[in-house]
Amino acid sequence: MKVLITGSSGQIGTNLALALQQRGDEVYGIDNRDNEWTDQVPGEKVDLVALSRDPASWEPPWRPDCVVHLAAWAKVHQLVLEPQKALENLEMTFSALEMARAAACPVVFGSSREVYGDIHRHVTEEGMADFVIAESPYSASKIGGEAMIYSYAKCYGLPVLIFRFSNVYGRFDSDADRMERVIPLFMRSIVDGKPITVFGKSKMLDFTYVDDCVTGVISGIEAVVDGKVKNDTINLAYGQGNTLHDLVNLLFLALARKVEVDYQPSRVGEVTRYVADISKARRILGYSPAIPLTAGIPLYTDWWKSQGWI
Ligand SMILES: NC(=O)c1ccc[n+]([C@@H]2O[C@H](COP(=O)([O-])OP(=O)(O)OC[C@H]3O[C@@H](n4cnc5c(N)ncnc54)[C@H](O)[C@@H]3O)[C@@H](O)[C@H]2O)c1
Repeated sequence: MKVLITGSSGQIGTNLALALQQRGDEVYGIDNRDNEWTDQVPGEKVDLVALSRDPASWEPPWRPDCVVHLAAWAKVHQLVLEPQKALENLEMTFSALEMARAAACPVVFGSSREVYGDIHRHVTEEGMADFVIAESPYSASKIGGEAMIYSYAKCYGLPVLIFRFSNVYGRFDSDADRMERVIPLFMRSIVDGKPITVFGKSKMLDFTYVDDCVTGVISGIEAVVDGKVKNDTINLAYGQGNTLHDLVNLLFLALARKVEVDYQPSRVGEVTRYVADISKARRILGYSPAIPLTAGIPLYTDWWKSQGWI
């Protein structure tokens, strides 16, 4: 299979590209940054926002069997501070869709649990998204992105598959310059012996180890390329909630050290409770996540050790 990946220098994109290559698939990655983790992923630097002005000005080296669109400004709080980046997310999605339209191939889109908003329900199944409650500009950019994806299915007959990811963590995510996610952020503070600020002690989230995420995405790519799945939206997560308090304690345990913890209220735009209903992924894709947070944190700690950061 030939898979074109946008956002291929990012956390999920890098893991996905390497996993596809391991299976013998051909990948081509595009991103507006170099990949700092590996030089094994062929590709080039393309700015998908700039490309949206003239989508026909770039084309991949071969006709892809599938476009996996992962490029985005992917940090919720950053988009609260800089909401124009939410608009850029839509422009990137437009560019990716135009690539798929030119190739007449399926599109897989990396959406987010953020589309559900902060609904305080324990478990969230796909039909529960209510688009009037966009919690943040990031959330709006994913809702808008999903709508654009489905519009291409309707108007141009592209088979589409949307994954709603949730707090993906694991190797190839530790990027202080790009505003870190909660797990690498806490890890770094603990390793440096600095206090942690936790926004929302009882905030409950569904943390997904990146290998589970990538396994699910690959099943989805296969299913949409084979025509077994078409125009669908699927939650991809571990399917279990953990509070930030639990997370901090797991990190203390894995790192065998403790720092001071300052608990503050959640910040504007943040989801405070989300546990995915992953029964659709199980049913349709045979998805069966294998790595709970209790196992994933030690794996992530090992990866930090392999990088010489601990
Ligand atoms: N990791 C998670 O927890 C999570 C959760 C929900 C949804 N998602 C979504 O999944 C996708 C992948 O997430 P990730 O964790 O790998 O994020 P990431 O930030 O590590 O990767 C995104 C990549 O997109 C690239 N990009 C940004 N602007 C670009 C542009 N103008 N042109 C080309 N490339 C550009 C970035 O350089 C980056 O490498 C994103 O769309 C994100 O919103 C991720």
